[in-house]
Amino acid sequence: MNTLASYTTLIEKEIESFSFPQSPVNLYDPLRYFMTLGGKRMRPMLTLMSGKLFGKTSEESMSAAMAVELFHNFSLIHDDIMDEAPLRRAKATVHEKWNTNIAILSGDVLFVKAYEQICKHPAHLIPSLLALFNKTAIEVCEGQQMDMDFETRNDVSAKEYIEMIRLKTSVLLGCALEMGAIIGETTAENRQALYAFGEHLGIAFQIQDDLLDLYGDPDKVGKQVGGDVLANKKTLLSILAKTYASTEQLNALDVLQSEVNADKKLSETKTIFEALQIQQRCQEEMRKHYDFAMNALATVQANNSIDELSALANYLFHREY
Ligand code: IPE
Ligand code: IPE
Ligand code: MG
Ligand code: MG
Ligand code: MG
Repeated sequence: MNTLASYTTLIEKEIESFSFPQSPVNLYDPLRYFMTLGGKRMRPMLTLMSGKLFGKTSEESMSAAMAVELFHNFSLIHDDIMDEAPLRRAKATVHEKWNTNIAILSGDVLFVKAYEQICKHPAHLIPSLLALFNKTAIEVCEGQQMDMDFETRNDVSAKEYIEMIRLKTSVLLGCALEMGAIIGETTAENRQALYAFGEHLGIAFQIQDDLLDLYGDPDKVGKQVGGDVLANKKTLLSILAKTYASTEQLNALDVLQSEVNADKKLSETKTIFEALQIQQRCQEEMRKHYDFAMNALATVQANNSIDELSALANYLFHREY
């Protein structure tokens, strides 16, 4: 079994080997900057581990792994514009360091670079890889639009929220895993099981992302703490708070939506969440999806062990950033 650190090293090396042109500097410097800021690199890891289940080496799965990471970085650069986020991976976001137009365009290049990577695979695999990737990319956009539409709605249900995060986050994890299975030329059942593992892992992962947004250690998270509350994002935290709030708490939460003093908005929201045990309730929901994910993974029939994927899921469950 390879360690997570050995996968990270391989992935970082591959990313460092990309040679983007020097000019125009305002196109290529931002994307070079962003791609080398680090990050957990968990999506490409999923692809490499999934391919390995069916006997494929990291080299054989690497291009698809890079496609997924490039797409992910593109989606983050654009997400940071949409969320008006100042920080990412503990550094300034691209639109803050340069400007919004530059962030749009350098993000677009990463998206195209993802296709370049997919096209490096053997010709007979490309149609399946592309079909999955295209479906996923469109779904991520659908999820991102729902996320933004929800900011101005106050009647978002837990079911709608789960569907939104399935689209904006989970499908890319499912795609990363299924790509490994496509490269491994395994059965439809294995492809589906790995996709289902990714879907539940992604739902748990996004609930945790929402929790870290409010309760994470600012030094570790590397993103602006409390950004979701300040932007009136609909997260499982805010939805469960509404579900369990008394009439009085409900009114207070309603008034806080338009509070302009950021410190006040955050501290008063946190006090109400605390009284309603929101953190614990979200953790229970997160645990449920991790369990679903592990059950789906257990159904995969492969020659090689699922231990690496279990270890990655376990690492994500305990992550602090
Ligand atoms: C952030 O993803 C976006 C979400 C889907 C929550 P990651 O937390 O995987 O970001 P990096 O790549 O590790 O920075
Ligand atoms: C982002 O969700 C999902 C995508 C980038 C598609 P968030 O907006 O919660 O991600 P962070 O918290 O900025 O990383
Ligand atoms: Mg964001
Ligand atoms: Mg967002
Ligand atoms: Mg977030």
